[in-house]
Amino acid sequence: MSETPAYPVGLRLAGRRVVVLGGGTVTQRRLPALLAAGADITLISPSVTPSVEAMATSGELTWERRRFRDGDLADAWYALIATDDPAANAAASAEAEAHRVWAVRSDDADAATAWTPATGRSEGVTVAVLTGQDPRRSAAVRDAIVEGLRDGSLSAPHRRARTGGVALVGGGPGDPDLITVRGRRLLADADVVVADRLGPRDLLDELPPHVEVIDAAKIPYGRAMAQEAINAALIEHARAGRSVVRLKGGDPFVFGRGMEEAEQLAAAGVPVTVVPGISSAVSVPAAVGIPVTHRGVAHEFTVASGHVAPDDPSSLVDWEALGRLRGTLVLLMAVERIGAIAATLVRHGRAPDTPVAVVQEGTTAAERRVDATLETVGETVAEQGVRPPAVIVIGDVVALGSRTPR
Ligand SMILES: C[S@@+](CC[C@H](N)C(=O)[O-])C[C@H]1O[C@@H](n2cnc3c(N)ncnc32)[C@H](O)[C@@H]1O
Repeated sequence: MSETPAYPVGLRLAGRRVVVLGGGTVTQRRLPALLAAGADITLISPSVTPSVEAMATSGELTWERRRFRDGDLADAWYALIATDDPAANAAASAEAEAHRVWAVRSDDADAATAWTPATGRSEGVTVAVLTGQDPRRSAAVRDAIVEGLRDGSLSAPHRRARTGGVALVGGGPGDPDLITVRGRRLLADADVVVADRLGPRDLLDELPPHVEVIDAAKIPYGRAMAQEAINAALIEHARAGRSVVRLKGGDPFVFGRGMEEAEQLAAAGVPVTVVPGISSAVSVPAAVGIPVTHRGVAHEFTVASGHVAPDDPSSLVDWEALGRLRGTLVLLMAVERIGAIAATLVRHGRAPDTPVAVVQEGTTAAERRVDATLETVGETVAEQGVRPPAVIVIGDVVALGSRTPR
């Protein structure tokens, strides 16, 4: 192969005829990008993979169930030649050359007139990498760039489109790797971060020094006042044109007051973006090997807050109904009242020997699991000094978790 580099170009294929020869795995891998570009694809092949067939069935492309024949490429703008027959590939290449159709060859890069770069996308940026005949290196460079753009470690200041708004970002249960890609990117772009006590606090250490971090847990008021002070801080910074991230534990809309904050911001005319997060309700049990559902064991899981006692008139939870359920019950904010809650569940029908796991500070270095039954959990939690934050899982799935190697 010549050392002459390829000339990079972005083809605008929307509505233009692209001919694909062959329906195997190479084609299957290339088709999504061609479809995303809006190409008018005719695929010619006697057989195709099930995934390619599904694309044809759904009308995303036209499949002609036959071999290549002369003239197939005559009016194409671009061709992907990827049959398992080298002679057919060579004939198609020759035809592409004669008609000046740029063509990629899966079997012979030297004979091709075009090469497919390793591509990736992040926030509206397409990254395309060509390294001659070293596709692994292309993919590795592409991965490094896309990953860097996603997690903010690759600085690209002009990509910043969002200013003056607030992103309510679900940070996941605590492990910094369990925030979403979008959440991490917004964090990397932020001027101000207002963070809760729960969530991926390690990520705050990575923020550049100019980023102002406000610790919501340290706002010195009572609960209601603290929430007002948080809202006021979010609105003030956003109005000053700063990009603000409200970093919350788990998912912002699961016992996270996310909607209250979103409403306050909207009322103040501040644009709000909500970025879902991985809730502790599911991820903390998973971290200790407990699936909240399991075939033949639990066909439902219910998440409830235990922040008020079952006999408290302000409780909105129907504990009687939960006592009758057979599936998994996941309790948040329930450590202090678990004795009363467990007794209520037993009173309403749950077996006293139902397994219970209490998982404190799940997914963090301090993670701790304490096992009990509904009958013993109140005492066990007190004896073992279990403290919030903890997720309490009740149901037969708990026993599955304890027998699964981690
Ligand atoms: C105010 S709620 C917020 C829930 C959060 N929005 C979510 O989706 O996970 C706080 C409760 O979540 C649970 N929690 C959050 N993170 C946890 C973790 N890493 N380990 C154990 N429990 C956690 C605890 O029950 C804690 O009391």
